Amino acid sequence: MEILTLPHTDLKVSGLCLGTASFGADISEADSFAMLDGFVEQGGNFLDTAAIYADWTPAGKGSSERLLSKWLSARSPQDIVIASKGAHPELHSMAVGRMTPQDVEGDLNASLGNLGVESIDLYYLHRDDPAVPVEEILEMLEGFKSAGKVRYYACSNWHANRIREAQEIARKMNVAGFVASQPLWSLAKPDLTGGDQTLAPMNDELLALHGETGLPAIPYTSQANGYFQKIADGKELKAAVAATYDSEIVRPLNRGRFSRLQTLSAETGLSLTQLVLGWLRGHEFPVVPIIGPQSVGQLEDSLRAADVKLSAQQVAELAGTA
Ligand SMILES: NC(=O)c1ccc[n+]([C@@H]2O[C@H](COP(=O)([O-])OP(=O)(O)OC[C@H]3O[C@@H](n4cnc5c(N)ncnc54)[C@H](OP(=O)(O)O)[C@@H]3O)[C@@H](O)[C@H]2O)c1
Repeated sequence: MEILTLPHTDLKVSGLCLGTASFGADISEADSFAMLDGFVEQGGNFLDTAAIYADWTPAGKGSSERLLSKWLSARSPQDIVIASKGAHPELHSMAVGRMTPQDVEGDLNASLGNLGVESIDLYYLHRDDPAVPVEEILEMLEGFKSAGKVRYYACSNWHANRIREAQEIARKMNVAGFVASQPLWSLAKPDLTGGDQTLAPMNDELLALHGETGLPAIPYTSQANGYFQKIADGKELKAAVAATYDSEIVRPLNRGRFSRLQTLSAETGLSLTQLVLGWLRGHEFPVVPIIGPQSVGQLEDSLRAADVKLSAQQVAELAGTA
């Protein structure tokens, strides 16, 4: 699998990142270990977790991180890069930001304990709180860096204007600032009208920012929860997937993209998964999709996309902008 160095860091990460939100919770320990082993055997080294995972299951908050800790102790793998996240609102009060230094340091300390590590390689703010000045946020994150608790920091679900502001302030402070952004992004456009309003999915403004500045994107839900594959297999879409990717608003666009995917698949012999992930990786700035397999079979299918990168022409054709 391709290994790339994230700009402004010494983090050497695999071209696909393994999402572990369900590990140790909806996915059993044995199956989680099998997927982690399979990912590493195929050259993967980049793992994504968060303090809040899997607060919504009986396994509870921190189970993904604790599972990773167990696996790290059992396997002692080389060169693993761990990304975790804090500052997520409480699930029962999503509109209430959690960006005070006490909130975020509390999350960070919990993650360090759960993971059993002294420092987190890449630490994301899971959400933004626009009421808090960006300068205060960067000063807090620099404090974590100086204390050795995080090696680099990044943002997830931040809007373009706030990232631009952070980049400007980082320049003035003479620090690297956010070294990546983790947006919701896939070939299928999401309809979030009825969903979580704290999400900040990829849009034209964010795309322009990444293109102009070269800021890496590490997109989540990069396979749109299997939307295209499930249509191709004639499977019924789960209600949440249908509401997000097949609503009246986005269905014409996404069905058009599905039809172009099928044409390109027939022309190139590449699978839908390879095309969907290769489309993300074909952009002009570094893109490391986070994959979210729920089984070893899905992991193997997604890993077959590891070395696929579409051309700029194919990227534009699939999106319908060529
Ligand atoms: N920063 C954030 O706010 C945020 C939010 C969400 C997720 N994340 C991160 O991103 C990771 C992945 O997110 P996600 O699970 O939403 O992404 P995803 O990969 O787009 O969705 C996962 C779902 O897609 C289907 N799938 C996955 N691989 C497949 C394959 N090869 N073939 C067919 N279907 C496939 C499965 O659906 P079925 O189970 O129905 O088969 C699976 O449950 C998480 O583990 C987490 O680390 C971050």
